[in-house]
Amino acid sequence: MMKLLLLFLILYYPCCHSLDTITLNQTIKDGDVLISNVRGTFALGFFSLEKGSKTRYLGIWYNKISEQTIVWVANRDNPLNDTSGVLSINNGNLVLHKNNDKNLKPIWSSNVSISSSIGNVSAKLLDNGNFVLTHSNGKNVVWQSFDFPSNTLLPFMKLGLNRKTGLNRFLTSWKSPIDPGTGNLTYRIDPTGFSQLFLYRDNKDPVWRTGSWTGQRWSGVPEMTPTFIFNVSFINDEDEVFIMYGVKDPMVLSRMVLDDTGHVRRLTWQPNEHRWFQIWFGPKEECDNFKQCGSNSNCDPYNAEKFECECLPGFEPKFPREWYLRDGSGGCVRKGNVSTCRSGEGFVKVAIVKVPDTSKTRVNESLSLKECREECLGDCSCVAFTSENEMLQGGCVTWHGDMEDTRTYTQVGQDLYVRVDKHELARYAKHPYGSLGKKGMVALSVVCTCLIVFMGTVFAYWFIKARKQGARRDRKFSFRLSFPDSDQQEFESTNNSNLPFFDLNIIAAATNNFSIANKLGEGGFGSVYKGILSNGTEIAVKRLSKYSGQGVEEFKNEVVLISKLQHRNLVRIIGCCVQGDEKMLIYEYLPNKSLDFFIFDKSKSSELDWRKRFDIICGVARGILYLHHDSRLRIIHRDLKASNVLLDTALNPKIADFGMARMFGGDQIEATTKRVVGTYGYMSPEYAMEGQFSVKSDVYSFGVLLLEIVTGKKNSGQYEDNESTNLVGHIWNLWREDKAMDIIDESLGETFSELEVQRCIQIGLLCVQDFAVDRPSMSAVVSMLGNDSTLPTPKQPAFIFKKSNYESSNPSTSEGIYSVNVVSMTMIEAR
Ligand SMILES: *[C@@H]1O[C@H](CO)[C@@H](O)[C@H](O)[C@H]1NC(C)=O
Ligand SMILES: *[C@@H]1O[C@H](CO)[C@@H](O)[C@H](O)[C@H]1NC(C)=O
Ligand SMILES: *[C@@H]1O[C@H](CO)[C@@H](O)[C@H](O)[C@H]1NC(C)=O
Ligand SMILES: *[C@@H]1O[C@H](CO)[C@@H](O)[C@H](O)[C@H]1NC(C)=O
Ligand SMILES: *[C@@H]1O[C@H](CO)[C@@H](O)[C@H](O)[C@H]1NC(C)=O
Ligand SMILES: *[C@@H]1O[C@H](CO)[C@@H](O)[C@H](O)[C@H]1NC(C)=O
Ligand SMILES: *[C@@H]1O[C@H](CO)[C@@H](O)[C@H](O)[C@H]1NC(C)=O
Ligand SMILES: *[C@@H]1O[C@H](CO)[C@@H](O)[C@H](O)[C@H]1NC(C)=O
Repeated sequence: MMKLLLLFLILYYPCCHSLDTITLNQTIKDGDVLISNVRGTFALGFFSLEKGSKTRYLGIWYNKISEQTIVWVANRDNPLNDTSGVLSINNGNLVLHKNNDKNLKPIWSSNVSISSSIGNVSAKLLDNGNFVLTHSNGKNVVWQSFDFPSNTLLPFMKLGLNRKTGLNRFLTSWKSPIDPGTGNLTYRIDPTGFSQLFLYRDNKDPVWRTGSWTGQRWSGVPEMTPTFIFNVSFINDEDEVFIMYGVKDPMVLSRMVLDDTGHVRRLTWQPNEHRWFQIWFGPKEECDNFKQCGSNSNCDPYNAEKFECECLPGFEPKFPREWYLRDGSGGCVRKGNVSTCRSGEGFVKVAIVKVPDTSKTRVNESLSLKECREECLGDCSCVAFTSENEMLQGGCVTWHGDMEDTRTYTQVGQDLYVRVDKHELARYAKHPYGSLGKKGMVALSVVCTCLIVFMGTVFAYWFIKARKQGARRDRKFSFRLSFPDSDQQEFESTNNSNLPFFDLNIIAAATNNFSIANKLGEGGFGSVYKGILSNGTEIAVKRLSKYSGQGVEEFKNEVVLISKLQHRNLVRIIGCCVQGDEKMLIYEYLPNKSLDFFIFDKSKSSELDWRKRFDIICGVARGILYLHHDSRLRIIHRDLKASNVLLDTALNPKIADFGMARMFGGDQIEATTKRVVGTYGYMSPEYAMEGQFSVKSDVYSFGVLLLEIVTGKKNSGQYEDNESTNLVGHIWNLWREDKAMDIIDESLGETFSELEVQRCIQIGLLCVQDFAVDRPSMSAVVSMLGNDSTLPTPKQPAFIFKKSNYESSNPSTSEGIYSVNVVSMTMIEAR
């Protein structure tokens, strides 16, 4: 026991006896190391990349982790071939010599020019991984490793240019995983025009444009949302342009690496599993390739026609033949013989994109978006504009030539306003770019059909009512169809919709003036009321809280899009109501409560036998599949949980609150309040940690929900085996011991097929796997639920969010239907 304790002390407190600094007469020989104080996070010394290799490098690595992880290399292009290297301070410089022979040319040198008085010189390894050479007793930093990165960006390291000194810090790939020599790829800030981050090959050919800074993130990294681990600062002034990632919790080890395959990866160390965990990477898809679709085009990977290239509004393919053979590289040219100069031209909004290359744009920070439009309209060379700061909708960026490298995202992106002639303008006013699709006529006919059906319903209702009540008119019935105002500025034009807009008076009357008695629940997005329209239809009214950052038009657009999602496993939106400050959504009313009310309640859970539960699981899966793949919008729910699954009278599941994040400008909420939408226990690790969301985050939440349905237990409960404080971890442990059947809900009795239940648990475990890439897609899940094919073996699930977070989550079962509980908007803060 004492021996163990001693070993522990030795292992954990090596720093107290180690050096972190060298001065004039000290050297670092091969075998010696400097270890940073106070935490001992980094070490500096000599290393080889392959076992038994004689090739030696001087570098810095993480000192306290088991996997050799090099973050900086001094002599990357000039390796030593033996262990004779010695690092010392000579003439105010750091120098690396063979055998400390100062007469030879150094293997490597910090190579700073020496001014007259240098005083005492020392070099110190800091605990953030920076190796700093100072003159004059530490007063004068003359060289630091952070200014000469290799392939790794550490927290608090600047990536970018010092305009005064010309020093540009950027990442350069290694030649291969075993050769840290200067590789072909660089990841650097290009300060020309409006500064952008680029991945280049051979220092000049752009491979991927991470894009310009939008105020919160890079234009080409929609996943980059304000989060709790990272504190990002982007500075762009006359002295400097750089980005710096801060880590709030110094115990979190995180690094960004440009690897030799041309990917930039963000990795975080998982101490429990002793491995690096990739939480982001780029570039990801073909549309990320620089100029994938040539000039004046947009790359849309979600394009229904399966060809990702499309011309920007007012443009047509330059080489139609190649274009229709699906080669978009020729790009697009302005259509026909039309004038876009002082002849009734205007702008069409291309929404949710990475805006074109900004290296030749003009920027005026003092203009508002409206002024920007005027500015662009008045200058016939201006082809497009956007706001410089996405959040503030301020600043003005204008393009004046070909637009290069635009692409579409699903959820987060900037809006680009593209100049078009008056004919195009009229065309797009009817069918805004992207939102009604390219098949305008089909969409139009759908809208018409829906309108006719709706009108028919209204007239039928009137007819019946008239017959029933004779001549007596119900004055309250002022149900009206209203369309967005048509005199909007064209760039804000919305599409006509078949969604009824209810009058506020109607809703107030239906809900008894929003009386407490009618209130069904209260949530992060607002309160929910039950209502009865004068024709007897029961409705649920979600009165959205006023802090929604969205404007009225945006809100209407969003509701119209969301309401087009129709599936029997989704709660139906009947309409909305926007008047003054009030924004409301009208849903069909479902008399039964939400799923959590049934499965977590001992007296209620027996109402759901295994057959019913299996049907619910399949129904939810199909609903999500529809949101992810089958609907045109590709909605990511982001807050899937038992209380967001409602049951109709036949106990069929219907998913509520989808599209909320989208409708609420979810990312704006995150940006302004630094909140992450979602509920602990259901949140995937990558989403909880870096706000990176994808369809796989929903798969994760679905997995948790499935396991909860099978077991009748909440994921946030406490379990006796110390290791796993949540349901997922507990099931995983039981599963490995082949005892998963121990945990299924007792109220199921004997009515189930053991094989089917076991299969469900396995599918659940596949969905909650740690790595998003390992998790199946929703279509795979639906197919696994529907047949008896052999299932893959699940890997370790993510249950990294332990005690502390669950303590604060406190999920409540009392939340009403249609609501998003307050806990789902939990503020995540660093500890
Ligand atoms: C370095 O060593 C030389 C010779 O051993 C000695 O004269 C000098 O004072 C030493 N300098 C320091 C800073 O220790
Ligand atoms: C090691 O390098 C030295 C010069 O740097 C060279 O003379 C010697 O041949 C090399 N030895 C081997 C084994 O490559
Ligand atoms: C040191 O810098 C000079 C110019 O400042 C340069 O010519 C020389 O190649 C550099 N030497 C090394 C070893 O980097
Ligand atoms: C260098 O350091 C020594 C001891 O730390 C000190 O006595 C000496 O004055 C310093 N020299 C200068 C030029 O600061
Ligand atoms: C650099 O890139 C070229 C192709 O662009 C390739 O042939 C070459 O091998 C690369 N060099 C290294 C060191 O990776
Ligand atoms: C986050 O960044 C801001 C601005 O750079 C800085 O003032 C603040 O101290 C940082 N916070 C942490 C925890 O790093
Ligand atoms: C373009 O239009 C102008 C006037 O509208 C006409 O004179 C000219 O011939 C047209 N050019 C082409 C190529 O159609
Ligand atoms: C920005 O716009 C304002 C108002 O039009 C103008 O006064 C100012 O000169 C512009 N600044 C630049 C840098 O163009």
